[in-house]
Amino acid sequence: MDNFFSVNDVVNLNQLLEKAKSVKENPMKNPELGKHKTLGLIFFNSSLRTRLSSQKAAYNLGMNVITMNVGSDSWLLELEDGTVMDGAKAEHIREAAEVISQYCDFIGIRCFADLVDKKEDEKEKVLHGFMKYASVPIINLESSTLHPLQSLADIITIEGHKKTTKPKVVLTWAPHPKALPQAVPNSFAEWITETDYDFVITHPKGYELSDKFTKGAKVEYDQQKAFEGADFIYAKNWCASEPYGQAACKDKDWTVDAELMAKTNNAKFMHCLPVRRNMIVSDEVLDSENAIHIDQAANRVVSMQTILEEFLKK
Ligand code: CP
Repeated sequence: MDNFFSVNDVVNLNQLLEKAKSVKENPMKNPELGKHKTLGLIFFNSSLRTRLSSQKAAYNLGMNVITMNVGSDSWLLELEDGTVMDGAKAEHIREAAEVISQYCDFIGIRCFADLVDKKEDEKEKVLHGFMKYASVPIINLESSTLHPLQSLADIITIEGHKKTTKPKVVLTWAPHPKALPQAVPNSFAEWITETDYDFVITHPKGYELSDKFTKGAKVEYDQQKAFEGADFIYAKNWCASEPYGQAACKDKDWTVDAELMAKTNNAKFMHCLPVRRNMIVSDEVLDSENAIHIDQAANRVVSMQTILEEFLKK
C-alpha cells in the first residue's frame, strides 16, 4: 500500500479485517512499532472522531503526532499550477506537501467537497496533490468523494454484530438542514460491494450516487420496502446529484423512526456521526439498544491503527 485513499488500495479485504480483529482484541500488542515515527494530521475541515481516533491509534503504536488546521494554524494553500499568487493563498501545495514530508513519516489529510461542481470535487485536487508532491504515504481522513477509514470501521462494526454470514445491509438517505457531501455513502457503497453482504441503497429520486462507487448496487426508491428484512440500517444524509450540492432536503418522511425500524429483522442502527437527532433519526431509535453508532466511533481507532500497522510493518 503506497497510500490509503480508497478501498482500491487494499490488496485483500478479508485479510485486513482479520488484522483489524486482532488489533481490536489487543490494541496494545505493538506499543513500540511506531517509535520515532511521526503522523501528521492536516485538517481543512472540522472533526471530532477522525482527529481523536487517529491520535489515539498512533499513540497505541508509540508514534508522535503533529496536528494542523489549514487556514487558522497555517497559510492558505494554492492548488492550481501556473497561478500568479497575488491573492489570499500564500503557499503552494507543491512546497507544503514536500515540507510536511520532512517532518512526518505519514500524512493524514481531511478536505471535504466544495459542493459547487461535481466534476471539480471528483478531481480530488487536495488529496491527489498531496499524493503527487509528498514523499511519504498519504492517508485519506475524508476527501471530496471518499471516507475510507469510516467505511473500514463500519465493516468492522458489522462483522462484530452480524448474526448471519450474509446480512442485509441498507444504506438509507435521511433528511438534514444542510446539504452534505457524498463521501460517506460513496465510500460505504464502495467497501460494502467488496463484501458478500446483501446490499440495498434507498433514497429519494434525484439523490443517485455515482455508479463509480455503487458499482451496480441495488437501489430501491421505496424506503419502507428497502427496510423489509434488513439486519443493518445505515442512515446518512447526502446532497442531491442534480442540481449537485444545492439546497438541503428536510423531508421528514425519510427520518428513521421506530415505525420504519419495525419493518426490519430487528436491525441494528448505524450512523457515522455527528448525527442530527430527530432529523436523521428519532431519539427513540438512537437511544435504543439496537443503535451501534458508539461502537462504530470506537472502531475508528481500530481502523486507523490497522492501516498504520500496515504501513509500519511494510
Ligand atoms: N465520522 C467522522 O468522520 O466524524 P468526524 O467528522 O467528527 O471526524
